[in-house]
This record gives sequence, C-alpha cells and structure tokens, in this order.
Amino acid sequence: MDKAIIGGTGVYSIGNSISKEIETIYGKAYVDIVNINGEEIVFLARHGKGHSTPPHLINYRANMKALEQIGVKYIYATAAVGSCNENYSVGDVVVIKDFIDFTKSRPLTFYEGGDSSVVHTDMSEPYCRNLISRFYDEAKNLSINIKGEAVYCCTEGPRFETASEIRMYKRLGADVVGMTNVPEVVLAKELGMCYSAVGIITNFCTGISSSIELHDIEGAMNRNKEIVTKAFINVFKGNLNQESCRCKNSRIIL
Ligand code: HPA
Repeated sequence: MDKAIIGGTGVYSIGNSISKEIETIYGKAYVDIVNINGEEIVFLARHGKGHSTPPHLINYRANMKALEQIGVKYIYATAAVGSCNENYSVGDVVVIKDFIDFTKSRPLTFYEGGDSSVVHTDMSEPYCRNLISRFYDEAKNLSINIKGEAVYCCTEGPRFETASEIRMYKRLGADVVGMTNVPEVVLAKELGMCYSAVGIITNFCTGISSSIELHDIEGAMNRNKEIVTKAFINVFKGNLNQESCRCKNSRIIL
C-alpha cells in the first residue's frame, strides 16, 4: 500500500472502504483502505470523519507516521483555501507550488535532537514535481480547469485572518491561505515521501471580497472534490517511482 489521499475539509471518503486504526509513537491515526481495480489505496480524513478536529489540534505527526508505517510513499492531498489573489475565485482549482509558514504552536518535525538526530529538510521543492506533472495530465483527460499555481500561506487558525493580515500575506507573495498544509507537507518530506496538494478555493480571504459564508465553502468543495479525487486515483492507477524528483533525498542529516 504505497499510495494515499489525504482529504481536507469537505472530503471525507472516496468510496467503499475498510477502516483501520494505526498506532504510532505519536498517537493513533485512522485511515480507510479503498480497493481500486485490485489495488489498495489509503484514504485519510485530515480533520477526522465528521470534521471533528480543528486545524491546530490535528495530530499531523501521527497521521504521517501512520502512513509511513503502512508503506505509503506517494500522497495527494486536497486543501480548502481562501484566495487573496483576485485571479483565483470561488470554485477554482489551483496546484500548490510553495508555502509560507505562519503557524505558531504545532509540533513541526519528527526530529527533536538526541536519539532522533538533527535534520534540516530541503524545502527548495516541497511539492513533488512528478506528482504535480501527473496530476496535470489526468486533469487534462478529465477536463478539470486548473486556474494556476499558488503559493499557500499557512496560518495557525482556527480563526480566520484579519484584513491587515491578508494584506501582509498577499504582499509577501501568497495566493491562497489555509490552516493545514504546514506541517503536513514538511513531515512528508522528512519521511522521504512524494507529496502534492491541490487547493480548491472556497472563499475570498477577509478584506479581498465579501465576508466568508459557510455555504460558499461547502458549495465550492462539493463542485470539485469528486473530479479532483478522480484525477488522483487515475494517477495512482499507473506506475509511480521516485526517480524523477528529489523527494526521497530531502533530509540533510548533520
Ligand atoms: N483562511 C484560512 N483558511 C481557510 C480559508 C481562509 O480564508 N478558507 C478556507 N480555509
């Protein structure tokens, strides 16, 4: 089982599955195993099935360690995001190409020194170039309109941002804002995994346009989640390897 999909807000399952609880040294994680054409694909609902865990309390280390323990090497994730780029509007699909980290209080590494050693992880290419390119191919086959690539700013949440914060993030180069991709992508790199995230714009960020409405978030996700996860599954039906990306060599151990 080397392929997994992490479903963000609004994406809580991908079909008939068997649920599994995985014990890790960081705590438990819960996954569903889905059989697609004879191959088992792992599905992990980032916030729990009923959206019960807020972004700052998600046990990212348990989730990622659990995926590693069952053999996962390739991960696609969905992310509900607000847009601070006027070119990306509600319902649009964007490929995340880089991140800016404004989280504050989360465990952000597996490497805490001592026995676990000191590791500095290369972030020159946080999102797997091979998975991104395969997603583009499948999105084309499925006529998914990818609006563009986006720099993701990760905030601590769970509150939304102030208008001044959004102005700052935008000036720093952010296109979209969310609360969960860090440390998820960082931990994936620490484990030498290939990881790619696709953003679905659910709202304009505070101060960019009118206020955030919950039904906007649900509606935008519902319109896109199935087709985006279908593209992920189509990539997973093919063969993948780690020869044309740098993901498995991201750790720099001192
Ligand atoms: N800000 C932060 N996270 C989000 C947003 C937002 O506007 N929309 C969806 N997730």
